[in-house]
Amino acid sequence: MNQSIAVIGSSNIDLIAQVAHFPQPGETIGNARYSQAYGGKGANQAVAAARAGGNVTFIASVGKDTFGQTMLTNFSKEGINTDYITQSGEEPSGTAIILVNEAGENCIAVAPGANALLSSELIDEARIAISGAEIILLQLEIPVETVAYVVGLANRLGKKVMLNPAPAQPLSDDLLKHLHYLVLNETEAALLVDHPVETTHQIEEAANKLLQKRVQTVIITLGARGAYVATRREQQMVSAYGIQPVDTTGAGDTFCGALATALSQQKKLNDAIAFANAAAALATTKLGAQPSAPTAAAIAALMKEQSFSSDEDF
Ligand code: RIB
Repeated sequence: MNQSIAVIGSSNIDLIAQVAHFPQPGETIGNARYSQAYGGKGANQAVAAARAGGNVTFIASVGKDTFGQTMLTNFSKEGINTDYITQSGEEPSGTAIILVNEAGENCIAVAPGANALLSSELIDEARIAISGAEIILLQLEIPVETVAYVVGLANRLGKKVMLNPAPAQPLSDDLLKHLHYLVLNETEAALLVDHPVETTHQIEEAANKLLQKRVQTVIITLGARGAYVATRREQQMVSAYGIQPVDTTGAGDTFCGALATALSQQKKLNDAIAFANAAAALATTKLGAQPSAPTAAAIAALMKEQSFSSDEDF
């Protein structure tokens, strides 16, 4: 059975410059290659979940401008329910300025615009969508008070909440204890546990600290190393897929969206993480966040090609 996913978060237009190297303060790079793509962590996760086969409602705030209008059209084309996306004339649509270097790494500055207007009042207006969903997927590019409000509401409604705490910021223990899934990279984990998260020992220590804060499932994404998953019962590393990256922007978002879809389809946790790992690997092979999110068929093909098989009951 394919249950529904409510993604609550940001939508941006990404203004991308591909550069040979990141500029130093005061340096101008004159030969960058420019392009534009749909982005924003919430929107990227909603699109990734829908392309991976999920049944998605996106709850967001965009501007009453050309970007806001084209974003709505794009979500509809992706088969996403847009009934709870508000358009506001008070702020422009969110924008991100992204530099991508030759190694496929990025530097991002976000101007939140209308994303900052996603208030608890707008969440109340979308309550029916939240109560109809099985999984609620959130990030931190909307006000953290709104995120806390959603987590409280979802918990009272008995929903499973997945939080991707990006961009990194401190979170209360009260919020963490209501999370079913916390999906975070090494930098985000380091901020929450207050120590570096690089070595295997540090990764295990961080996961245990977050479990002690009563998060039910901690998933630390580790790029080319794969993902470390920890519950109170078991902990294990799930390997990444071997792929040469072109642009890593949005790979973490694709991981979260694909993971939510796999879980909504009742896949076992380590199968769902392998599916999300394959989706994230494919997302690094093309420029741009949303343009690179793969379909369910592409994910299945990569898993077959690199012969993923699961025999663990996790
Ligand atoms: O995670 C990648 C996203 O971060 C980009 O699409 C950009 O919009 C910023 O929100």
